[in-house]
Order: sequence, then structure tokens, then C-alpha cells
Amino acid sequence: MKRFHSNDLSLAFHDVGHGEPVVLLHGFPLHSASFAGQLTAPTLTAGHRLLVPDLRGFGQSLPSRPGVGPVEMRTFAEDLLAWLDHLGLASVWLGGVSMGGYIAMAVLQLAPSRVKGLLLIDTHPDPDDDAGRARREETARNIEAQGMGFLADSMLPKLLAPTAPAEVRARLRQLILENNIAGAAAATRGMALRDDSKPVLSRFAGPALVVVGEDDALIPVEKARALASLLPHGELRVLPGAGHLPPLETPDAFNGALADFLERHATPR
Ligand code: MLT
Repeated sequence: MKRFHSNDLSLAFHDVGHGEPVVLLHGFPLHSASFAGQLTAPTLTAGHRLLVPDLRGFGQSLPSRPGVGPVEMRTFAEDLLAWLDHLGLASVWLGGVSMGGYIAMAVLQLAPSRVKGLLLIDTHPDPDDDAGRARREETARNIEAQGMGFLADSMLPKLLAPTAPAEVRARLRQLILENNIAGAAAATRGMALRDDSKPVLSRFAGPALVVVGEDDALIPVEKARALASLLPHGELRVLPGAGHLPPLETPDAFNGALADFLERHATPR
């Protein structure tokens, strides 16, 4: 992996392929290797430059002074904007899974001109309500008391489609356990503070693809449909056989949907 150093953070990232830059942001509590099925796909890397970071506090992107948080979506977004400056990229195709989607929306809020097109995967634009915020704090305390095993045990059943094969379950468990307690707790507290992203999405003039796994236990298909309708140029793809994590669960179908979207909107003619 490559690295970008800025203030208190050494951001680790994959940089694979050539062409239009496409940034993919992982969900919680995963890291960049959850996009292995994209980083190794010639259908995507032949015509696009895939840029896939470990977000602050996840994978190999550990801040030098990890606090208890919160790390707000705006902070993740500021990390990414500094990284894009370093890469010399004025604008990119920006995608994120679930929490990665919240962060993509925060980038759009801070710097809309940096986003050529959006890819929102199993995510939604609403802020937490009071009960949701209380649950986040309880989760953060449980992570601190019991470690990443707590998150693996509590989240795994909700993240994958019931039909997910044993090797995908095992891989997901491993990805969660590879993360660290401080980063996961800080992001959990940060997610509790996020804004309502509906206003910024309703103003986004670029192309936008909303993807959802048909069996997502966290984001029902109807919620994804509402998100696509909110976007002036939104389109929806529902992926059969996938739950909350289509890039990991059904990589071929997900890659096909992404390649088709980019082919129609991002490929120079
Ligand atoms: C994720 O997959 O990133 C999480 O489900 C997001 C959340 O907890 O809201």
C-alpha cells in the first residue's frame, strides 16, 4: 500500500489501474481489503484508477494520537480532501459503502466541485435520532470493554445475506478483527453526530448510482429507492443474493453494475 502523511495521520491506500479516478470508501468496521474483489478486477482496473484508502483509525491508517473520539464524518472527509490535493486530483468519482457513503456525503457537503459522480452503496442520508445516538454510545463502550470480537459477533449476522457462503463469513470476521478498538469506538461516536445529507444530495447535479443488496437487513430496498429518487440524476441497482456488503458478497455483479455506470458516464467518447 502507498502512504500519505498529513498532520497526525499516515493514510494508507491502494492505487491500482489507470484512467478516470474512482475512490471507494469502506464501511464500518471494515478496511480497504473489503474491496479486494474490485482491486483485482481487470474489468474495473483496465479503464479506471481505483483509489481505496483505509479510513482514519481503520486498517493501517492509524493516527499518531488516537483519542476516544468522536471522529466525525467531516474529519474523515477533510482527510480525504487533503489526500486528493496530494494526489493532484481536482475531482473524482466518489463511492462509499454504508459509513463510507456517509463520508462521501460529507465530502459533497464540504467540497461539491471535487465530486464528478457518486456511488452510494447500502447507505442512507438520515442523521441518527436520540435513540440511535444512545445506541452508538452503548456500542462504543462495549467495543472498549470487550474488543473487536464484540463487534464481529454483534454485526456479522446483520451484514451478510442469509445465503452468504462460509468463506465470505470467515473473511468478513477476519476483516473486522483486523481493526483496532480506538478507531472503531471513535468512528461509532462520530457516526452519531452526522448531519442530514438530504439537502446536499438533492442539489447534486452529477450522475449518481445507488446500489443495494436485495437482502440487506440494515437498508431496505425501499430506502435505497427513496435515496435514488432524491438525487436529481440518481439510478438504482438492486443486487440479488447480497446483503449489506455487495462488493464483498457478490463482487462480479457489483463490478458489473459499477463498470456499466462508469462506461455510460465517465468514459471519454
Ligand atoms: C456500516 O456498514 O458502515 C454501518 O452499518 C453504518 C452504521 O452503523 O450506520
